[in-house]
Amino acid sequence: MIHNSSPAIVVIGCGVIGLSSALSLQELLRDDPSKSSWQVVIVSKEWPTSIPGAPIPHSIEYSSMWAGAHVRPIPPTTTQLRQEGLWLKQTVSKFNSLLKAETQIGLTLAPAIEVFEAPGDEYKAQTAESFEADSGLKGYRELTAKELPNGTTFGFEYESYCINSPIYCGDLLRKFIIAGGKTINATLRSVDEASIITPNVQFLVNTSGIGFNDSKVFPIRGHIVLTNSTCFDKTITRQNLDGTWNFIIPRFFSGGTVIGGTKEPHDWRRDPDSATCRRLLTGVEELKQYALSSGSLGQPENISVIQEIVGRRPAREGGLRLEIEFPSNTYSAESKLPVIHAYGAGGRGFEISWGVASSVSKLAKGLMVKLDQTKGRLAKL
Ligand SMILES: Cc1cc2nc3c(=O)[nH]c(=O)nc-3n(C[C@H](O)[C@H](O)[C@H](O)COP(=O)(O)OP(=O)(O)OC[C@H]3O[C@@H](n4cnc5c(N)ncnc54)[C@H](O)[C@@H]3O)c2cc1C
Ligand SMILES: *[C@@H]1O[C@H](CO)[C@@H](O)[C@H](O)[C@H]1NC(C)=O
Ligand SMILES: *[C@@H]1O[C@H](CO)[C@@H](O)[C@H](O)[C@H]1NC(C)=O
Ligand SMILES: *[C@@H]1O[C@H](CO)[C@@H](O)[C@H](O)[C@H]1NC(C)=O
Ligand SMILES: *[C@@H]1O[C@H](CO)[C@@H](O)[C@H](O)[C@H]1NC(C)=O
Ligand SMILES: *[C@@H]1O[C@H](CO)[C@@H](O)[C@H](O)[C@H]1NC(C)=O
Ligand SMILES: *[C@@H]1O[C@H](CO)[C@@H](O)[C@H](O)[C@H]1NC(C)=O
Repeated sequence: MIHNSSPAIVVIGCGVIGLSSALSLQELLRDDPSKSSWQVVIVSKEWPTSIPGAPIPHSIEYSSMWAGAHVRPIPPTTTQLRQEGLWLKQTVSKFNSLLKAETQIGLTLAPAIEVFEAPGDEYKAQTAESFEADSGLKGYRELTAKELPNGTTFGFEYESYCINSPIYCGDLLRKFIIAGGKTINATLRSVDEASIITPNVQFLVNTSGIGFNDSKVFPIRGHIVLTNSTCFDKTITRQNLDGTWNFIIPRFFSGGTVIGGTKEPHDWRRDPDSATCRRLLTGVEELKQYALSSGSLGQPENISVIQEIVGRRPAREGGLRLEIEFPSNTYSAESKLPVIHAYGAGGRGFEISWGVASSVSKLAKGLMVKLDQTKGRLAKL
């Protein structure tokens, strides 16, 4: 039960962006003695717990349950990519410190290999120094011609993170609750509903992924196959000449191996299709032979499919929306509350999560100062 007098920050959504933001907000409140009575409340219609193959359903919109996931830096050639790159670097640093404190949280430091049939110049221009400076990830090394899989002309390796997404999100949710966080299960129909879902809401944080009604938001369909393979100790990504991808992401902590995958913008199909599934499994056989012959992996094995998966990445034209929206008339009795938007992470929600959360927290800090000033002015009237 939430006490009436506790001012609340309502976070809409319990994906990786909502969870990381909620934890950062709790930290912000802890650091400010004048806010010791404040609460963070997550309102969401879906919650972490997902075991593919077991009867625990999730909608394809709940992106954080379907993500591979790994950290894969993209050379920062546009404004949006530069911003995402900064967030990625902050996330890598946070992942490091989380893993130092505790190892069983769904994160694994693992080698990553990327290979290309036709690499862009921005990839070829990378050096060990630029790569580490941009991403914070260590161990960058270009592969020699001999080390490249058949059909590819360029590749490199580095130390990255593999994320067992449902386990990791579950861990964040447990941390949030242990730190005093509250949860409300609800399907919101509007902003206004969020502002009265619990008493004394001060402002909202909108991490609804693809949830509401922004015409700039669109799905990028991701078709992947979860298998029972345990032979990979690294994540491998192959970019093909025709624009298709093949990737392998071990889901450490007994989660099998994700074999992917497609990136299909504006594709609203919900169901897996057998042609794509066959292409992905054939592609992975090649990568597997390569990985085995490169000597660092376990024995050959027969793999079986646990689940063919389609998830939607919540993309947005221009990238993630990160800003405060103020109500049109703050002093009207019926006014809405300020909203910090943080939705539209696209295909990179995990790898940018802590950077985004830190930006949300900075906006929240400024907003709380503003709200205190407004209260001060009203008190004098
Ligand atoms: C196949 C696939 C592979 C991917 N691989 C990677 C990867 O390797 N690395 C990476 O970083 N990212 C990856 N992603 C992308 C990543 O999954 C997303 O960027 C991330 O999960 C977005 O998180 P989110 O919190 O913004 O949204 P979501 O996880 O979609 O969460 C949205 C939340 O809002 C709630 N919500 C929405 N509407 C309402 C409403 N009306 N009322 C109440 N609650 C509501 C939902 O229930 C949910 O809790 C992948 C995605 C897919 C599909
Ligand atoms: C490499 O690929 C080509 C064409 O796909 C094939 O003909 C050849 O046998 C392959 N070589 C190896 C070593 O797998
Ligand atoms: C949570 O709410 C959804 C609808 O918003 C409902 O389908 C689901 O059963 C609820 N879960 C619980 C545990 O109450
Ligand atoms: C979504 O937005 C459109 C226009 O932007 C509006 O006409 C429509 O009513 C909105 N739908 C909902 C459910 O809010
Ligand atoms: C949250 O984000 C959606 C886009 O997904 C947007 O359309 C909606 O208005 C926002 N909701 C709130 C509560 O501001
Ligand atoms: C794979 O399965 C086939 C047929 O079921 C079997 O002959 C073979 O020994 C198996 N290989 C491994 C590595 O288990
Ligand atoms: C995966 O499933 C196949 C087929 O059932 C089986 O042969 C193989 O041993 C399984 N792999 C693991 C790691 O259990």
